[in-house]
Amino acid sequence: MITLNTDYLKGFVNPQEINDILPSVRLAHDALHSGKGLGAEFTGWLDLPSRIPDALIKEISLLASEVHQNSDCIVSIGIGGSYLGIRATVDFLGGGKLPVYYAGHNISSDYLHQLLVTLKDKRITVVVISKSGTTTEPAIAFRVIKKLLESKYQGEELKKRIICVTDEKKGALRKIADSQGYRSFIIPDDVGGRYSILTPVGLVPLALAGVDIQSLVDGARKAQAEYAVCDLDKNTCYRYAALRNILYAKGKKIEMLSSFYPEVFYVAEWFKQLFGESEGKQGKGIFPASLNMSTDLHSMGQWMQDAERTVFETFLQIDKPQHDVIVPTDAEDLDGFNYVAGKGFDFVNKKAYEATSAAHFEGGVPNMTITLCKADTMHLGHLYYFFEKACGISGYILGVNPFDQPGVEAYKKKMFALLGKQ
Ligand code: PA5
Repeated sequence: MITLNTDYLKGFVNPQEINDILPSVRLAHDALHSGKGLGAEFTGWLDLPSRIPDALIKEISLLASEVHQNSDCIVSIGIGGSYLGIRATVDFLGGGKLPVYYAGHNISSDYLHQLLVTLKDKRITVVVISKSGTTTEPAIAFRVIKKLLESKYQGEELKKRIICVTDEKKGALRKIADSQGYRSFIIPDDVGGRYSILTPVGLVPLALAGVDIQSLVDGARKAQAEYAVCDLDKNTCYRYAALRNILYAKGKKIEMLSSFYPEVFYVAEWFKQLFGESEGKQGKGIFPASLNMSTDLHSMGQWMQDAERTVFETFLQIDKPQHDVIVPTDAEDLDGFNYVAGKGFDFVNKKAYEATSAAHFEGGVPNMTITLCKADTMHLGHLYYFFEKACGISGYILGVNPFDQPGVEAYKKKMFALLGKQ
């Protein structure tokens, strides 16, 4: 379902370096699979795909059918791991049954005001998602959206339009769900936010939006089986994890995830959170960045070709997009583009990718390409697991705990002090 092309690492990574990193890959694999590595208490994602109960998928799917009847849209409230995977999936697949609006991922009053205007005359179901149940952004956004719901619905009707996804026992959101009698789903204790797309964090809002969550899970299940073997020749996920560490050790401190598909934009945002929060600690960590081609070739293309050579690039390609559009012939050919007439946009797009990867390689940017065979739900589920496992292995090779995020507390302490929290 996924392939990894490393032709343009030639001259940047040599076979000896791959041999040299093998012991670290084995140690990382053993640490992860034995449950004895750093942060092992948050590695529930590792075999999560195979453990997702059919009953849970059924329960969520039934709820989704009900919501499809009574709502015009979904409002998904959450931030970080409780937001990015949902948006990545909805944007990648190009919309499902109901449009999804997002709240609680910023604190902009203009954004929220505009959202309230948009939602005014719509029938709404709200999914509020927070593992800790205490995160500021979604908590205060939920207060506002709840007021809007209260102005539209009362009693049981109001209750059934609020769905909470949170911890089984802890946190304010659990308290709210239990005391108000809202429907709720549990986020497992052993899965951290950025690894939680296949828990109810992702499954509930995605099913409500109309995404086929069974296919998403099936894709991840295939990936779980495929990437279980500790063999760099057979395991593309481990090969990718190993190569990025070799490049990092040689001074390539930035990984640019570049894609020629705008629908991948939020997948890249999800990727940045996954790797940034997992590896960026103790003074170490590849800086995960992203470019959206070909748009960014006309802005960041110069930097990529010619700036400080501290970057490597990972292209995320799609072999078969969902649709193609043909460039029409023009009788007068005033613009001179008849030479591509009759060709698909996808053909032109792929030539742009081939040209860019070759040019960046020649410009001193080692690059590799991850290709998804198809742009569908199952392949996306596979890709999520691919990156999660690569991140766990890569973080262990780097020597950090890829499952904690102590650094995100620092600004919160200062913000709470400024806001006068007791
Ligand atoms: O990965 C993480 O742990 C974070 O990005 C969280 O997902 C984010 O801070 C939201 O946290 P919560 O779900 O507790 O509201």
